[in-house]
Parts: sequence; C-alpha cells; structure tokens
Amino acid sequence: MKKILITGAAGFVGRHFTKHFLEAGDEVHAVDSIVPLTGGIDPEKGWPLFDPRGFKHFHYYREDCRQYFLKTKDTDFDYTIHLAAMVGGREMIERNPLAVAEDLAIDADYWRWAKETRPRKTICFSSSAAYPIKFQREKGYRLLTEDLIDFADDIGMPDMSYGWAKLTHEYLARLAWQHHGIKSVVYRPFSGYGEDQDDTYPFPSICKRVLANQGARTLTVWGTGEQMRDFIHISDCVAGVLKTMDQIDDARAVNLSTGIFTSFKEFAKLAARLAGYNPEVVGMSDKPAGVFARGGDTTFQRKLGFQHKIAFESGIKRALGYYQR
Ligand SMILES: NC(=O)c1ccc[n+]([C@@H]2O[C@H](COP(=O)([O-])OP(=O)(O)OC[C@H]3O[C@@H](n4cnc5c(N)ncnc54)[C@H](O)[C@@H]3O)[C@@H](O)[C@H]2O)c1
Repeated sequence: MKKILITGAAGFVGRHFTKHFLEAGDEVHAVDSIVPLTGGIDPEKGWPLFDPRGFKHFHYYREDCRQYFLKTKDTDFDYTIHLAAMVGGREMIERNPLAVAEDLAIDADYWRWAKETRPRKTICFSSSAAYPIKFQREKGYRLLTEDLIDFADDIGMPDMSYGWAKLTHEYLARLAWQHHGIKSVVYRPFSGYGEDQDDTYPFPSICKRVLANQGARTLTVWGTGEQMRDFIHISDCVAGVLKTMDQIDDARAVNLSTGIFTSFKEFAKLAARLAGYNPEVVGMSDKPAGVFARGGDTTFQRKLGFQHKIAFESGIKRALGYYQR
C-alpha cells in the first residue's frame, strides 16, 4: 500500500486521482480548503462521479495546504500530487490575475515543505499556459514541444499570471532537484476535460448550452469561436501520469495532450450534431478568448509509452449522456 498526498484533492483533477489511488488500495491524504471560484467540491457534500467516504484509507483535511505544510511533517509519502491552485476558467485568468497569483505563494510553500519532508516523488502540475504565447498566435502557431521552455536559455512570455506562476513552479521543481535531490516530474496538461468539470470551463458549458438550446438555429461560444484547443479527457490525463511518473526524477516536463487542434466552433457543431441538430455557431465578442491556438506535441509522451485513448467525440457523447440523465 502506497501513501499518497494530494493537495487540491477535491478539485476536478484531484477527484480523479483520489479515485484511482483509493480503488488501487492506497492510502490517500487529501488536502483541500474548497476555495471559492475554484472547481473544489467538499467530499462531505458528495462528489459527482465517485464517493471516497466509504474508503477507510481516505483521510480528508479541509484546510489550506499551507497550514497543512506547517503542521504535518510526515516523511513517508511515496507520491505527492500537488494540484492545489487558484485556476478557474478564462474569465478568472484574464480578469482576476492577482487572485491567481496566489499560486506563487502556494507553490513556494510546497517546495519548502518538500525539502524538509522529502517525499519519494512529487507529481507537479504545471500547465500548457506556461508556454510562450508567441507560438500560439494566429500567424505562426505550432504544436508546442517541451523544449520551447528552456530554463538555461529562453523561457518566453507565458499566459498571464497563471502561466507565470506555473513557470515559477517548474523552475522551483528544477532547483529542488539540483540543490536538494528532491525527485519530481512536471506535467503540462492541455485542455483537460470531463463531465464533472466546473461550469466555468468551456467543455461543460458548451455541452450544457448545446442541450439547453436543442433545435435552435444559432448557438454561441466565447470569443470569435475560431480559437483552438487540444482537448484531452481527464481519464487520459490520469493514465498519462501513471504511465510516465516513475520514468523521470529531475523535474523534466511532459505534455499531456493529443496533438489535435479543435476550434470552439468545431466543438460546438460536433456536440450539436451529436444532440441531433445543426445550428450556426457564432462568437460572443464580449467574452475572453485567450490565445488563438494551443496544442501540445505528443512525441515525448509517446516515447515514454503514453498515448491518449478517448477520442473527443466519445468524450462529448459521454458528457451529453451524463447531463441528460
Ligand atoms: N484541468 C485542466 O485541464 C488543467 C490543465 C492544466 C493544468 N491544470 C492544473 O491541475 C491542477 C488542478 O486543476 P483543476 O482543474 O482540478 O482545478 P480545480 O479548481 O478544480 O481544483 C483546484 C483545487 O485546489 C484547491 N485549492 C486552491 N488553493 C488551495 C489551497 N491554498 N489549499 C488547499 N487547496 C486549495 C481548490 O479548492 C480546488 O479544489 C491545478 O494546479 C491546475 O493548474 C489543470
């Protein structure tokens, strides 16, 4: 039985990791203060897809992880999955950048705690938002390869305070390895999605809008609707981490992506078709769109033995069925 710490465990990604490790028979210490404006759901209120409460090795601490780090100095964690962060959807990232900057403080405290307690391996969640935005513009965008962030040479300008915090998180992971031998692997997930994601994210909100407007002639999406993302199902994100986490110790970064660009308009059209109608999809110019194109090269993941399995169409079908039920 492994002993796992998950910070931000009650959030979207954290709930899926909690499920995996509890079902595998491991001991999960879940820390989450259920911060407003995040996707956190108190386990006492019941999680949408999985109930951890019946598992005797589930230990939940409803507190800020920084308080937990001050009080708890266990030195026997096999894996620490550090997910606690102020994230939110595009609106939060663009219109509330100083709230998101909290992540700088959370991550600094995490790495100081890791230096003291030396978990066997840290699973460090960065983001595709850490990549330089100059490679994500309408003119000249490209699939992002891990080496486009090179701490020895050029790191570029990331996406708002969110990307900046993630870049710093990665840099601290590197320093923790170089100066203190703290083992970690860094992940840069692209647009992780799933039916139990918070409604502030495009995936659930577009799927729910498609169902609410069934049969309508037009459907709206944020921004121009031409902006493109690389949607990867949350089960694939978890599978990608499990497959690769023991292969890297030196804080090297790995994309979690499919390598497929899908525009919001294409997404909404596909979802509407699956729901049985064919509307015109139009953009909402008063809503933030973010970068034009963000997609992740998959070469390195594949070299490590991971490839996504769930096609976007299947993920949408699954979600539409779930919301209808
Ligand atoms: N979902 C994705 O597609 C995606 C993509 C890139 C990166 N990430 C990263 O994965 C991690 C999890 O993201 P998510 O989608 O689950 O977001 P989420 O908002 O659903 O979960 C974040 C959780 O962290 C908790 N939290 C925030 N500050 C805390 C603190 N100080 N102490 C304890 N708990 C705190 C929140 O209450 C929430 O439950 C984040 O670090 C995020 O940056 C996610």
